[in-house]
Amino acid sequence: MLVTLASAKGSPGVTTTARVIASVWPGPSVLVDADPAGGDLSLWSSAPDGTPLDPDTGLLTLAVEARRGAVQLEQHVQRIDGGLDVLCGVQSPGQVASMGPVWPTLGGVLRAHPGTVVADVGRLGPDSPAMPLALDSDVLVLVVRPTIEGFSHLRERLRWLTSIDSGMRALPALGIVAVAEARDAGTVRDLEQLLAHEGLRVPVLGTVAVDQRSADVVAGRIQRGIDRSLLVRSARQLVEPVARLAGTRRYAQGGVA
Ligand SMILES: Nc1ncnc2c1ncn2[C@@H]1O[C@H](COP(=O)(O)OP(=O)(O)OP(=O)(O)O)[C@@H](O)[C@H]1O
Ligand SMILES: [Mg+2]
Repeated sequence: MLVTLASAKGSPGVTTTARVIASVWPGPSVLVDADPAGGDLSLWSSAPDGTPLDPDTGLLTLAVEARRGAVQLEQHVQRIDGGLDVLCGVQSPGQVASMGPVWPTLGGVLRAHPGTVVADVGRLGPDSPAMPLALDSDVLVLVVRPTIEGFSHLRERLRWLTSIDSGMRALPALGIVAVAEARDAGTVRDLEQLLAHEGLRVPVLGTVAVDQRSADVVAGRIQRGIDRSLLVRSARQLVEPVARLAGTRRYAQGGVA
């Protein structure tokens, strides 16, 4: 199963949310840093023995192998502290460009993996090289903060995504996750209705708690256990709705077959 997380605009917390969802996902999972704007995961994480990850092993080495033929995802992932397997992303615009024709094939490679793959594609727009990967996903989750601008950019991005004519190809099921405080629960609940009024039937799958200290741990800024944190507990609640939505990929989404 390929679960992709993206944002419409800003930095609502895609990388943090993807990292936590991948680590709480039951069964084997791989976290893929596919943000063409430059990956954060290799900077945030270290190997179980505390040594830094090799930033050049990941998408770049996978792209080299993909040009030669079949790809073994396992050969390009690195295990990080806590036990999660991560495919490190690209760092520079030159590296993004050097992947060139491999970007459109990535979705197929990741979908072929027997476990769950959680991919972070960063900000998603028509010019993003990660767009084919997003469209190959079983579920594409847009992460948003509950602000007027956040909702407005999300709505525009959903209008665009639901208007994509994919021909005979199935499109990913679309869902929304809000990074929000408990006091914003009502606003987040209203979002689904607001969108539905505009003909955008995209479910709000849940909320990731705003939990700055735990987000700092995820980003490697401080060391602490976060297993019982608000952040991790809220991410656990998302697994079931995300997995359920992923099962609906083949059906029409927003009128697009
Ligand atoms: N659940 C959360 N609670 C508190 N802070 C958070 C949470 N998620 C993310 N943050 C903080 O928000 C900032 C942006 O997070 P992150 O890098 O995950 O966002 P992003 O959407 O991936 O951004 P970018 O588009 O720059 O890649 C970081 O400082 C991060 O620690
Ligand atoms: Mg990010």
